[in-house]
Amino acid sequence: MATAQETLPQAPSGELRATGTLDVKDSRTSKAYPFQILEGGVEGDTAVRAMDLRQIKTAPEEFGLMTYDPAFMNTASCKSAITFIDGDKGILRYRGYPIEQLAEGATFLEVAWLLRHGELPTQQEYEKWVQDITYHTYVHENIKTFLQGFRYDAHPMAMLCSTVAALSSFYPEANDIHDPEQRNISIVRLLAKLPTLAAFCYRHVKGLPFIYPDNDLSYVENFLSMVARMSEPKYEANPVFVKALEILFILHADHEQNCSTNAVRAVGSSQVDPFSAIAAGVAALYGPLHGGANEQVLRMISEIGHPKNVPAFINDVKSGKGSRLMGFGHRVYKSYDPRAKIVKRLADEVFKQVGMDKDLEIALKLEEVALNDDYFVSRKLYPNVDFYTGLIYRSMAFPTDFFTVLFAVARTAGWLSQWEEMLNDKEQKIARPRQIYVGYGEREYQSKLKSKFPQPKKDALRK
Ligand code: CMC
Repeated sequence: MATAQETLPQAPSGELRATGTLDVKDSRTSKAYPFQILEGGVEGDTAVRAMDLRQIKTAPEEFGLMTYDPAFMNTASCKSAITFIDGDKGILRYRGYPIEQLAEGATFLEVAWLLRHGELPTQQEYEKWVQDITYHTYVHENIKTFLQGFRYDAHPMAMLCSTVAALSSFYPEANDIHDPEQRNISIVRLLAKLPTLAAFCYRHVKGLPFIYPDNDLSYVENFLSMVARMSEPKYEANPVFVKALEILFILHADHEQNCSTNAVRAVGSSQVDPFSAIAAGVAALYGPLHGGANEQVLRMISEIGHPKNVPAFINDVKSGKGSRLMGFGHRVYKSYDPRAKIVKRLADEVFKQVGMDKDLEIALKLEEVALNDDYFVSRKLYPNVDFYTGLIYRSMAFPTDFFTVLFAVARTAGWLSQWEEMLNDKEQKIARPRQIYVGYGEREYQSKLKSKFPQPKKDALRK
């Protein structure tokens, strides 16, 4: 009879298998090259090694053939066993577990453990993990002084990015990224402190006193407490909001090699400390085409103002006169974003509790018009996770520019798992893409300047 150990699903080996040959003929030299086709994992992803192409040359002194792939549209930069996405079928799994099942039954910290370790935690592992993360929620008092230096209207993502980077100065020992103990404590610290930093950014913008972590509360409840607590001695969160935020954190926890994860891996590949690498992820997430999209969705909806204006807005998007339809489209999902389905259901539940959001009507109209318009259908543009998250966050009274911060808190779990996987991958080196140089050939320097050190012009208030 099989033991419990034997019946556990086998972890993927991580090795790539040769599965066939790709024969390539160079028309310049008529030389033929057989390239090994490699297959990885159980999902049948195949690739050829870009480095194999280097042998294709017309003369020995040549550099050799490269691949040209702006925006990495078709380049696997790593092997990863963390997250699987099938964009055509709308599948998202963390470590093999469907996102729908995790959103239904798991906690965010359970998912954070799963992402990092590859297996679900046992009760004992989970309790220690929660204990460690709870213990490290406090930040150095100087962080408060640091935050006071920001203007009252500073964007919270700008503040978060800087404070995460600043943490590296408090933990110089985190530079020792090859020491598993240092790595572990840095991971725990980042997961523990991100909600505290995020909440402090919120309170700074509001001009409210910072609220220290309450270690009796769960991860999500404590975060809400640090955001919203006023004079009450003990904060009690709305259970519908706690559940919704827990699910949204799970949905945002990882998404394989997206822009910010790629940034974390690229920056981390220089072997910098994890606080600096994660700060790079926060910076990438800030952009409107990535995590900043949920903020842009609400700005777009308020610009539209009324459902009757939706058709005209859609026409502007199509003609290129207006911006893109924010919250629509995805580099990978070309049928639907499975997270968007969960979020839409979640939005219904939250609105049942707090009442219908006035802009939900506009969002529903936008979705209906776009899904029936050939421009969006032919380009396979469907609502992505960010289309409805903003509406939920706003119904919880989070300010619009804080939405991406919530995304960053959750994605830290994925960034850290991806960062550690990269460090443990023997094939990884410092990330350093090639280029195809298209500029001038060599030319002689002949200055066009009359003066090398011109005096700056005096402004109107100076003689
Ligand atoms: N509205 C209107 N047209 C669009 C949109 C959109 N949201 N997205 C793509 N298109 C068009 C684009 O103009 C192009 O048309 P054409 O072939 O005529 O030039 C075509 O669809 C393909 O677009 P692309 O820019 O090549 O697609 P991409 O895979 O590079 O971009 C994307 C993916 C997410 C950046 C893009 O769909 C987009 O800008 N969406 C709006 C921003 C957004 O919602 N981002 C959140 C993504 S999900 C969460 C996250 O990852 O952070």
